[in-house]
Amino acid sequence: MQGADTNRRISRISAHICPHNSQTEEVSGLGMTNCRARGASPGFRVAILGAAGGIGQPLAMLMKMNPLVSLLHLYDVVNTPGVTSDISHMNTGAVVRGFLGKQQLEEALTGMDLVIIPAGVPRKPGMTRDDLFNINAGIVKTLCEGIAKSCPKAIVNLISNPVNSTVPIAAEVFKKAGTYDPKRLLGVTKLDVVRANTFVAEVLGLDPREVDIPVVGGHAGVTILPLLSQVKPPCSLSPEETSYLTSRIQNGGTEVVEAKAGAGSATLSMAYAAVKFADACLRGLRGDAGVVECAFVASQVTELPFFASKVRLGRNGIEEIYSLGPMNEYERAGLEKAKEELAASIQKGIMFTRK
Ligand code: NAD
Ligand code: LMR
Repeated sequence: MQGADTNRRISRISAHICPHNSQTEEVSGLGMTNCRARGASPGFRVAILGAAGGIGQPLAMLMKMNPLVSLLHLYDVVNTPGVTSDISHMNTGAVVRGFLGKQQLEEALTGMDLVIIPAGVPRKPGMTRDDLFNINAGIVKTLCEGIAKSCPKAIVNLISNPVNSTVPIAAEVFKKAGTYDPKRLLGVTKLDVVRANTFVAEVLGLDPREVDIPVVGGHAGVTILPLLSQVKPPCSLSPEETSYLTSRIQNGGTEVVEAKAGAGSATLSMAYAAVKFADACLRGLRGDAGVVECAFVASQVTELPFFASKVRLGRNGIEEIYSLGPMNEYERAGLEKAKEELAASIQKGIMFTRK
């Protein structure tokens, strides 16, 4: 009797590591059917697709530290056993399980409340985000087909670039599967807000945690439109400061790509931004009031079918999409430029799934 209890305890531990952890099974003589993986605290079930990558690993670590998460599924086509084993040793509440390769995608996604997707290739110097389209479009399509099948009600946070096209691709995949709910699909543009708050705080000599700037439009070059006239706390910026800051925020990603000199794009600041955004989605799901973030979503704020602006998050995902608010002449001119490029990127995404 005592032996059976011990075996059950060992099998519970092995379930943290990987549902197919043959090594532990050999040592303990236990099959996976005996294993029970349970969150130590009540909370949400979150999957990260692309969890072994530059963003995926720090994102997984930060999500393991989030008290709102009870079960964390880490999926990738490489290296998830190692990442999962490593992270599972953190003494936080979330149980972690690893999934490797397409044959385990369904298992990774079943029952998830939130799916975060940083899967795909990053830029090298000299490339635009659109240069990633040919590889990342197919990856996002496959992963979204898996979501439609295994967790059609999950909130999806899409990070893979080019976001201006991958979000329309995801929407088309979900429409085709009959599971599309525009309230549950969000392109992650939080890094643009994080950068805007940091760079503006530097210029104004403020604490970056006290600064809040809406960044609207999309997530590439001129489509990234910081509304500096709406900065909180209210401050007035000179035309030179506005022009410098707008350009730095629009080129923040390229600044990192060039500094990394071929070793990828933003990963650590992105993981930080993604975890803030995912936490906001989970607080919304929990029913917290007043959770507002910028995101690239299906929208009627402009004539385009998708646009990034402030949204209120709640139990069903997006509860409300806010209009852009008062803009100055500089921002209105920026908006026209942003819309032109965005329209083409959105169309490219839509056409990809109709081929
Ligand atoms: P990375 O190459 O370090 O990691 C990507 C991971 O995706 C790898 O582990 C890889 O194995 C995995 N992957 C590839 N194909 C997959 C598939 N079919 N299923 C599951 N996983 C798969 O790249 P990274 O630096 O983590 O960047 C990932 C993506 O995020 C890039 O497209 C990048 O441009 C984008 N990104 C977006 C933002 C944003 O603000 N939205 C910011 C930074 C990076
Ligand atoms: C970023 O803004 O850092 C990301 O979109 C990655 C990139 O390619 O710039």
